Parts: sequence; C-alpha cells; structure tokens
Amino acid sequence: MLKVHNLRKRFGGVKAVDIDDISFEQNQLTSIIGPNGAGKTTFFDLISGFTEGDEGKVFLNEKNITNSQPFSIARQGMVRTFQLTKVFDRMTVIENMMFSGSNTKNDSLFRSLMKLSTQKNNENLIREKAFEIMKDLNIDHMADSYARELSGGQKKLLELGRSIINDPKILLLDEPLAGVNPKLAEEILSIIQKLSDQGITIIMVEHNIEAVMKISERVIVLAEGSVIADGNPEKVRKDPKVIEAYLGSGNE
Ligand SMILES: Nc1ncnc2c1ncn2[C@@H]1O[C@H](COP(=O)(O)OP(=O)(O)OP(=O)(O)O)[C@@H](O)[C@H]1O
Ligand SMILES: [Mg+2]
Repeated sequence: MLKVHNLRKRFGGVKAVDIDDISFEQNQLTSIIGPNGAGKTTFFDLISGFTEGDEGKVFLNEKNITNSQPFSIARQGMVRTFQLTKVFDRMTVIENMMFSGSNTKNDSLFRSLMKLSTQKNNENLIREKAFEIMKDLNIDHMADSYARELSGGQKKLLELGRSIINDPKILLLDEPLAGVNPKLAEEILSIIQKLSDQGITIIMVEHNIEAVMKISERVIVLAEGSVIADGNPEKVRKDPKVIEAYLGSGNE
C-alpha cells in the first residue's frame, strides 16, 4: 500500500533518514519507535510531502508520490498529524473540524457545479459528520470553545478528529499520546485501535513503549535514520540491538 525506496535526507552532517526499503501493509497497525533524533518525524515529513528528500522514492498504492504536495497526498488518502499539534487556536473546535471537512476533493467540484442550496446541504452534512466524530472523541461538549482553551490532550483529540473527517486510508500519527495524561492516553489508544478496526491503515510514532507493544501488529525501530529492527512486538522487544539502542538508553 505504501512503499519507500532508498529514502535519504541529511541535515548538514546529520543523516536524518537513511532507509533502503520499507513497505506497509494495508490495514496493519504499525508503530515506529526509536530514540530522540532517530529520524521518525523526518520520515513522516518525507512521505507526507512536508520535506523534500535528497534521494529516494515514495509510492502510495503503486503511484509515485515522491515530492508531491501535502494536500495532494492527503487527497489521495494519506493524512498525518503533528508531534506539536497544529490546530487553529483562534477558531472554535467545530470550526476547526469543518475547516478540514470542507477541504475535500468534492469541494471545488460541488462549488462549481452545484447550486447554493446544495452547498448549504453539503455544509450541513459536514457539520453532522464533524459532530459525530467529536462525539466519538468526547469533545462535542467543547464544540463552541476556542481551540486555545483546550487542554493538550483535547488538542490531540481535535487534531485526530480533523485528520479523520475526510475518511483517510492511511493515518500517520506523530506521537499521539505525548504530553497526555494516562487516562486520556488510554482513551486515545482505544480510539486508534477502533480506527484500525474500521480499516484505516495506521502508522504511529510513539515513545510510550507500553502502549506501542500493546496495540501494534508491527514495530519498526529507527536509530540514526536507519531501520535496526522490524517485526512483531514480541520479536522487537527481545532484539538485543533494540535494547541497546533504545530500550536500555533511558529514552522512554
Ligand atoms: N529542519 C531541520 N534542520 C536541521 N536538522 C534537523 C531538522 N529536522 C530534523 N533535524 C535533525 O534530524 C535528526 C532527526 O530528527 P527527527 O525530528 O526526525 O527525529 P525524531 O526521531 O522525530 O525525534 P523525536 O523523538 O525527538 O521527535 C535530528 O538529528 C534532528 O536534529
Ligand atoms: Mg519526532
């Protein structure tokens, strides 16, 4: 479903990403772990079009999407969230949701082809869908609050909500549990599990090893830009390279 080949990115002397080949299976929940600076976020930046690589190719459903624009990649069904949330602080929660919802590929089409009444209809549909998602995420009671009034964890939920309103096929989640209290982390984790059960392919970067081991079907370990281990959680947990590079380093 998603494949990368010879993907490399340097920042000065630092090899941020240096990956020969990885592919991701449809409907699998994969986590990417690794110490700080291992290149996890840069990997997401490269495959989602936010950074241009020095070398390499990215394929989404056999289609070459290397260096495509983020919005174009999102329209093709691969959507990401950010380590530092990117919600619009000065918009309300529902406005944030609807802003993402109106960004669909149907939008320009319906705008140009349909009448005003249909537009209104469409807006109502997006609103309905936004409320449905907000309810699932337990932020519907905050609909009219400004995003800046949300807690860190609620912002993570809002970003997750925005990322799923257009029915993505692949979700890239960059540290969805970071800075979130344990109870909310548990909730977010079960939402991620549910999205996976609904058929969304999920690739998650996370430092919370316990959560990763619990939820993932596959774990990929990056260190200094390269893959040092890849397999099911049990296998990866026991890998001496992983223990040395990551689990033993106090980086959790
Ligand atoms: N824009 C940039 N300019 C210069 N160096 C960068 C830039 N972005 C990342 N780097 C460097 O590339 C390397 C990989 O960084 P990256 O943010 O991808 O790591 P990470 O695995 O996401 O780390 P963390 O777990 O701390 O989020 C690091 O050495 C980092 O300092
Ligand atoms: Mg990162």
